[in-house]
Amino acid sequence: MESTQPNRDNTPATLKQRIDSLRITLKEHNYRYYTLDTPIITDAEYDRLLRQLEALETELGEPIPSDSPTQTVGAPLSATFQPREHGEALLSLANAFDAGEVEAFVRRIHDQFGDQFGNQADDQPLRFIIEPKIDGLAINLRYEQGKLTVAATRGDGTVGEDVTNNVRTIADIPWHLQADNTDTDSADIPDVLEVRGEVYMSKAAFAELNARQDAEGAAPFANPRNAAAGSLRQLDARITARRGLNFFAYGVGVGGRHIATNQSDLLSRLHDCGFAVQQTTLVNSSAELLQHYRQLQQQRASMPYDIDGVVYKLNDFELQDRMGAVARSPRWAIAHKFLAEEVETTVHRIIWQVGRTGVITPVAEMQPVAVGGVTVSRATLHNIDELHRKQVYAGAQVIVRRAGDVIPEVVRAVDVDERISFPKAPDHCPACGASLFRIEGEVAIRCSGGLSCPAQLTEHLRHFVSRGGMDIEGMGDKLIARLVEEHLITDIADLYEFDYASLRDWPGMGAKKITNLQAAIEQSRHRPLARFLYALGIRHVGTATATALASYFSTLNHIMQTDAETLIDIPDIGPEVATSIISFFSETHNRDVIQRLLDAGVQPASRQMTLSDHPLSGKRVVLTGSFAAIDRRMAQEKLRTLGAKPTGSVSKNTDIVIAGEKSGSKLTRAHELGIEVAGEKQLLAWLNP
Ligand code: IVH
Repeated sequence: MESTQPNRDNTPATLKQRIDSLRITLKEHNYRYYTLDTPIITDAEYDRLLRQLEALETELGEPIPSDSPTQTVGAPLSATFQPREHGEALLSLANAFDAGEVEAFVRRIHDQFGDQFGNQADDQPLRFIIEPKIDGLAINLRYEQGKLTVAATRGDGTVGEDVTNNVRTIADIPWHLQADNTDTDSADIPDVLEVRGEVYMSKAAFAELNARQDAEGAAPFANPRNAAAGSLRQLDARITARRGLNFFAYGVGVGGRHIATNQSDLLSRLHDCGFAVQQTTLVNSSAELLQHYRQLQQQRASMPYDIDGVVYKLNDFELQDRMGAVARSPRWAIAHKFLAEEVETTVHRIIWQVGRTGVITPVAEMQPVAVGGVTVSRATLHNIDELHRKQVYAGAQVIVRRAGDVIPEVVRAVDVDERISFPKAPDHCPACGASLFRIEGEVAIRCSGGLSCPAQLTEHLRHFVSRGGMDIEGMGDKLIARLVEEHLITDIADLYEFDYASLRDWPGMGAKKITNLQAAIEQSRHRPLARFLYALGIRHVGTATATALASYFSTLNHIMQTDAETLIDIPDIGPEVATSIISFFSETHNRDVIQRLLDAGVQPASRQMTLSDHPLSGKRVVLTGSFAAIDRRMAQEKLRTLGAKPTGSVSKNTDIVIAGEKSGSKLTRAHELGIEVAGEKQLLAWLNP
């Protein structure tokens, strides 16, 4: 607390120091009072400090800045999040996916130090610290003279966004570093200290928040991580304050080496300074690392907050420095992620779904259950063989997980009742009644109805109009479903022959919508050849194959007349894909549809695209997160050459946000602003039109 003793040393330098200190103190009280609604001093005490500041400012006789508490009333709400450069870059962690990779990590470190610590029976074995990997978002806290001055999100590791006001609402984060009350004093804290850690939402706070969202008719958050990110990025810190966020400190940047010489001492030091830190363990062999990994995986479900793995760090800072970093990941630490979370639930029934290519897939409808942060009520069983292998039936207790942490799947049944007869595959297509068949050597059962099957037709049309395909905006799922249901559209060529004006009287189809739809249909007539090929929905022909075909042949005619041998010569096209392409174009029905498309004025553009043709031409695009197939910077460069305008931050002027893995605040912001969001697949399609 600010001293109220009269100050007799009135040199300008001392006066300035006192003024600065009082301004910070008063700003904090303003903030607690106006934003948090939780003042910690009386109004009288506040007034006395304010008068004291006024007197000192007068005494100094210099112009008073407009943000001095004597000139402002209340803490202002920030309009946006300002960029903030971190003192030291925030690194990220490389991942180990199995025991072998953990062993290799430990071995690399032993190799680096050779004989010095090579033998684990040594007096000084290399020590590793094990920390749970919190599933939240990284924050850098800057303390100057022990006071919290800036809190910024990780951003790109070098520059983050200023979320200081919001972070101040998190009880685990001290506004002032507490002096160590053991053997040292506050003089030990460096002038500037950066503390790093993870902001997260506990499972309990998450459940409470979603119950509140539900009661208010608002959309629930998918998982605690998203909820934490959304809550931290509120322009009104009072909202953040109500969300009950938490924080664990796990690292330091600038100044860090002054307060500890190893990670385990650092954590206790940070704890003494007033931070919450996690329980950790020190070990010295990979066997012990793996043993603790298994232990934490067991404890994971009962922990009060989500963890998505374990972090192993070489404990000693000097040795860490000697190991250094590769790219943006330190060589002295690694994250060992957990395998997908598995939960148990009951199957209510098994349904058979018909996909675009006619494949009939068994799907389990289940008692809704939370897994990997989302509620799941359906899970794929892939095919009839899998269904039998996993012994799944209506009423079975099953283990469910999200494959790759995304698509829910049934792993196996538990306590199988052998008396039950397992479901058989249907004899006829559940959507159109046509007979089913199996291609030799394949497990999938298919509907023979082709495009006369409404389920296949619907999926086929959805694929054709999709963004990676002909990109017909306004042709949504509901409209397609109804057009199919009413037999108004029976194949993709009908899309170009249909009289859209006749939809005038349909609910939700105003004149404007119809005009836009007609314009979108018109525009789609000239999509590049690669997109057209992809849109046709030929088995095994995804964006990459379609692009390869288009650049090799350059006209549709050539592709339609080619043979398997020629196709196999094209890089990335194997016999299976070649057969599929040949058989697609040899089918009379498909040739007829293509002819009708051409007759209706569809002219796939085979020439090199010009910039203004590209769907992203002139669009303001933000890339966020990491992509498996392409480096973000490269993608940005490529987008620029295609006429797009890649920018760094999401605002209301952004047209599209392309989000990869681990997209954080930018994705959240996009959702908040209702901006179109695309994924990596779409990005690749755009990059290879
Ligand atoms: S240390 C150089 N420790 O995981 C070391 N990170 O993939 C940098 N995380 O960005 C991080 N728990 O957001 C560290 N105990 C922990 C962690 C942790 C969660 C997050 C953090 C980081 C990401 C790295």
